[in-house]
Amino acid sequence: MEFSVKSGSPEKQRISCVAVGVFESRKLSHSAQLLDEASDGYIANLIRRGECEGKLGQTLLLHNVPNTLCDRVLLIGCGREKNFDTGPFQKTNNIVAKFLDERGATEVFSCLTELNVKNRDIAWKVNQAVQATEDALYTFDQLKSKKESARRPLRKVIFSVPSRRELPDGEQAVRHGMAIASGITLAKDLANLPGNICTPSYLAEQAKALGKTYRDLKVNVLEESDMEALKMGSLLSVARGSRQPAKLITLEYNGAADNQKPIIFVGKGVTFDSGGISLKPGAGMDEMKFDMCGAASVIGIMSTCAELQLPINVVGIIPATENLPDGLATKPGDIVTSMSGTTIEILNTDAEGRLILCDALTYAAKYDPHVVIDIATLTGACIIALGNHPSGLLGNHNPLINELLNAGKISGDRCWELPLWDDYQQQLDSNFADIANIGGKEAGTITAACFLSRFTKKYHWAHLDIAGTAWRSGKEKGATGRPVPLLAQYLLNHIADQKL
Ligand code: BES
Ligand code: MN
Ligand code: ZN
Repeated sequence: MEFSVKSGSPEKQRISCVAVGVFESRKLSHSAQLLDEASDGYIANLIRRGECEGKLGQTLLLHNVPNTLCDRVLLIGCGREKNFDTGPFQKTNNIVAKFLDERGATEVFSCLTELNVKNRDIAWKVNQAVQATEDALYTFDQLKSKKESARRPLRKVIFSVPSRRELPDGEQAVRHGMAIASGITLAKDLANLPGNICTPSYLAEQAKALGKTYRDLKVNVLEESDMEALKMGSLLSVARGSRQPAKLITLEYNGAADNQKPIIFVGKGVTFDSGGISLKPGAGMDEMKFDMCGAASVIGIMSTCAELQLPINVVGIIPATENLPDGLATKPGDIVTSMSGTTIEILNTDAEGRLILCDALTYAAKYDPHVVIDIATLTGACIIALGNHPSGLLGNHNPLINELLNAGKISGDRCWELPLWDDYQQQLDSNFADIANIGGKEAGTITAACFLSRFTKKYHWAHLDIAGTAWRSGKEKGATGRPVPLLAQYLLNHIADQKL
């Protein structure tokens, strides 16, 4: 998609479509008013007759509006003006893109970026609008033999900015939005691929390919023999039940001086989670191909960093494996020794995410990190606690937690903190090893984080449980690309703070 910004009156745009907002009930936005004045009340007249109430998501397409230079005007309902914040802003941009793509308008001058969103500037609006547009038009048809693409797809979107003064900010925001959107798309594509294609080796190949694209991105892949040498007994215990070799992928993005401590993202890369010997029930098991969404989001955010040439150092670490039952598979009751030396009694082989993450987290210390953030589809309990709206957030450093909460609010890709209190730690007690890999049925998301906390004492750390947010089920089944927007915002904020 081609994106740009422009300042100019809506009635003067020679283009196939101009999109303007209408608030509930029947209140024209400023841009809609300009069109209305140019057309001698044509729009207000239609609205008075009840053609468009301004309900959120409502659309009305008009042709040949008098005294305008565009072929069409799209009125888009924005809901109540006082409620017009991140959610409605994303939704209206999303709808405009989908609507026009299906109707053969190949270009649009969108005035949605002129609407007021509380506490948000033009750069935020343009960035968000670019992301929402790309999200709306995303399709995954690589594996369909017949593709049903639009005959005359939307290919050019121009966002309106209030004056020429805002053009530089707007252009920068287009660049940011496009790089974040392409990180999201990459994450979605990897996650939507089935487990027979997207194996640990495939993830490693894709990471290597990304390393070839960007000069500042160095990709390295550790094999099982390397992991043995590093004594990653916990990670390897998960891989034992699979015929696909496990990989430990590192992506090092170097955008700042070498003495700048890196921000590290660790992503769970279980390319299929059957549960292992503690086999999952059959219904919906296909969705466990999404158990590598943490890994996908790490690859996505690394591509965004490299694309934007961000002035920071960032490292991605991806432990990748399948979790399958096989003759050699780990059994409940087995005890393994992690890289840190901590012994683990594996009481449930389906709690495998923490087993691969703990060794990756121990490995992360060698980079002397500024902070480490792990991202994992870790617990079904997180969906019970928080549903699909925010990702779960836990960690050992309050400033980092607050930065992530804040980045979530700004990006709209929200997270919510759960307490990582010592009170929960005892649930991991084992009679036979240092710790057990499960903590009973209470507070499953917290005890999973407690497990990880045993391996992250040497640095500032936060954990994002994306079990509820990384993909959608049902008719709309597919990856969301979350939390790439959250991580991108976190990095951009971090860079802005550094400059102060
Ligand atoms: N990948 C799953 C978590 C999951 C389940 C994410 C459903 C999204 C939807 C993870 O490996 C897992 O199986 N966790 C277990 C932990 C339990 C055995 C302590 C779970 O949540 O049931
Ligand atoms: Mn599992
Ligand atoms: Zn899993």
